[in-house]
Amino acid sequence: MPPISYLNGTWQPPEEARVPILDRGFLFGDGIYEVIPVYNSQAFTLPRHLTRLNHCLKEIGIANPMTDAAWEAIVNEAIARSGEITAFIYLQVTRGVVAKRDHQYPKNPAPTVLVMVYEAPILERREIVPLKMITLDDFRWARGHIKTVSLIAAGMLKNEALARGADDAILVKDGRITEATSSNVFIAKKGVLATPPKSNRLLHGITRDLVLELARGHGLPAEEREITTEQLADADEIFISSSGYETWPVGVLNGQVFGSGEGGRLWRQLDRLFQRFKSERN
Ligand SMILES: Cc1ncc(COP(=O)(O)O)c(C=O)c1O
Repeated sequence: MPPISYLNGTWQPPEEARVPILDRGFLFGDGIYEVIPVYNSQAFTLPRHLTRLNHCLKEIGIANPMTDAAWEAIVNEAIARSGEITAFIYLQVTRGVVAKRDHQYPKNPAPTVLVMVYEAPILERREIVPLKMITLDDFRWARGHIKTVSLIAAGMLKNEALARGADDAILVKDGRITEATSSNVFIAKKGVLATPPKSNRLLHGITRDLVLELARGHGLPAEEREITTEQLADADEIFISSSGYETWPVGVLNGQVFGSGEGGRLWRQLDRLFQRFKSERN
């Protein structure tokens, strides 16, 4: 079936959907988004994504235009209309169309709501080739916990990594890692998992939480602590987590083959736990 989008109440093919130029999402990147995996034609961990959407909208002062039940109904309809079994749901709220371009927020905003579904071959996990990563200075803004559509800094960093022959970058602020350009980062050292603690420096990833819960629920020690660049280079394993990649191993860091280069023992164990959790839920 063709890709589908929902824009302010209208269902149409994404290439036909139009937003006025005075939408603050277009002019200022003034909005929040979510990416939600769909397995077996069902949105995965949707309530967690809707909770984060609520928090992020609150952070930038946009009233959520819909209840969680209304979001859920649109998400389910989008999946049904798309006919996709394994896919991504993209959901976005901007502050909406204004009378003129002005930094000041409008008094009575009418948020723009977008939901679309697109294919996600990566979620079928046919071939897991470990990622090549480099470390780069994290020059993004100081509100990394807000999932804003203003993604130019992440785009610049990702493209710098690609230009240097890597797949992505692990970002470093004040000598400590924060996250990758669109995922959280875990290391394993001497059988203990670690990931940076939640703060304004990084997105509070839903997959990150799930990995920690699965690890701890199965007796695998997992710490939330600062990780220096030295500790990163000295780790036994590195892997990333995100709705797009679930968990995915890192095989090369700054040009050096890392661990076995194929993903380590703890990552494999967590991947098995993740796949089981997925199949039980959806
Ligand atoms: C900067 C950043 N960190 C982490 C993540 C992972 O978050 P989640 O697991 O909720 O997809 C994302 C996802 O897009 C991201 O953009």
